[in-house]
Amino acid sequence: MSENAQRKIAFVGSECYPFVKTGGLGDVMYALPRALTRQGADVRVIMPYYACIPEKFKSQMKFLGSFMMDLCQDGHTYFVGIMETELDGVTYNFIENREFFDWGNPYTGLWEDIPKYCYFSKAVLAALNFLEWIPDVIHCHDWQAALTPVYLRTRFAPTPVGQAKSVLTIHNLRFQGICSIDHLKYWSGLPDYLFNYPVFKVNDTEANMFKGGLAFADRITTVSATYAEEIQTGFYGEGLDAHLRYHSPKLKGIVNGIDVDIWNSAADSLLAAPYDMFNVIEKKKENKRALQEALGLDVDENKFVIGLVSRLTDQKGLDLVNAIFQQIMDENTQFALLGTGDPRYEGAFRYYESVNKGSVCSYIQYNEGLAHKIYAGSDALLVPSLFEPCGLTQLIAMRYGTVPIVRETGGLKDTVAPYNAEENSGNGFTFDYYEAGLLLKAIQSAKELYFEDRGRWDEMVRRDMDKDVSWEKSASEYMALYEELAE
Ligand code: ADP
Ligand code: GLC
Repeated sequence: MSENAQRKIAFVGSECYPFVKTGGLGDVMYALPRALTRQGADVRVIMPYYACIPEKFKSQMKFLGSFMMDLCQDGHTYFVGIMETELDGVTYNFIENREFFDWGNPYTGLWEDIPKYCYFSKAVLAALNFLEWIPDVIHCHDWQAALTPVYLRTRFAPTPVGQAKSVLTIHNLRFQGICSIDHLKYWSGLPDYLFNYPVFKVNDTEANMFKGGLAFADRITTVSATYAEEIQTGFYGEGLDAHLRYHSPKLKGIVNGIDVDIWNSAADSLLAAPYDMFNVIEKKKENKRALQEALGLDVDENKFVIGLVSRLTDQKGLDLVNAIFQQIMDENTQFALLGTGDPRYEGAFRYYESVNKGSVCSYIQYNEGLAHKIYAGSDALLVPSLFEPCGLTQLIAMRYGTVPIVRETGGLKDTVAPYNAEENSGNGFTFDYYEAGLLLKAIQSAKELYFEDRGRWDEMVRRDMDKDVSWEKSASEYMALYEELAE
């Protein structure tokens, strides 16, 4: 434990591995609390009790109590149940309400999600008071938890939890929780005076939950230093750049890490041949063959296998991949895609598989086990994002000795140093402008090194595995931030 008093930190967010995960937010909500716990903090994660949480976790939860809470403008009251479980030293509390959380997937469309997360953001504070567990800092994540800092300074200010400070982390500014002013007024029950331009209002008719949360949070963080700069510009600011420039004195970028126990190639039971940086070159071949077999690709360890594990949305740079796909493919290259999302990308990748049988596999699914196999069995991993707040797949790739090919944006820029032939340094291949030709060039440079200077390629593989992608350093930065707030 640190010399400081043990700080109590409540994490508030809409998803958390292994209970529910749709993307990197789920990973962070799991891994960062564990890292903070190791550094001496007392962390509690609070999330919704979704119907889709696997039974094996639900059956271990304790029911702690329940109460009724008023929510809407008309004072309508709702049930709040609190469930609890513990995992690796972290306590998890789940907010239970069947009307809001029995729909299946966490996100079911904004019309339902706005009421759902108004309810959740408020119920979290009521639950902390109910449990008499008053944190030093309430660390909220993304728009779904953005009303918590607002309720904290308004309705809950005179209650015990009102003494807590708040941090709001932006994982992805694309999603903000925007709806009509009337809809948000009704569901949040928040007073009229907050529906002005400095807080919720975006135009004459619409209100924005994230905007209000950012105005009220004591500190704002985002998941890389570069993204912290980018979101203050028109291109990346998603309409909130001026708001963020205004609040920039309280904004800071802290880069994500990954959980190095979950992502540990040496002890990964999902792999055909676990490996470390000393035997990676030999063992990767075995994992590559196993991957090729599993995906119906021609089994040949000499092929250059490019992996892509991603939500299929325009954020991820798939328009660039589409523009040059057939130019990437040659007789020495294979492509393994794992992802779900936008039907137009799903369709495109299905097509590429159908015309490149044996060298392209498009696995249109969410599949944790296969993700591990692709990270281990590929030579390179593609992340050509249009924007990328942090990105975790390039970190996982490096940890698995798979060379990332990324666009220099957000966290990709901060975590992947470009290969420098003169110095024989760097972690991967990068390109700057969002142009298909530049992506193609980066892929070609990667192939060139792979096929023409394997010794140096292998050195990069080992360098990547040796790179610190854990949470330790960034967790200490969060600890310092909490300490500063709590004092
Ligand atoms: P984002 O949060 O924008 O989706 P990140 O790179 O931060 O992007 O995190 C993505 C996480 O989701 C990683 O852990 C990645 O392995 C995982 N992931 C994405 N798509 C899939 C999929 N189809 N199957 C399994 N895991 C996936
Ligand atoms: C978001 C971002 C991603 C980031 C993740 C976790 O989903 O798109 O870049 O890594 O959150 O912070």
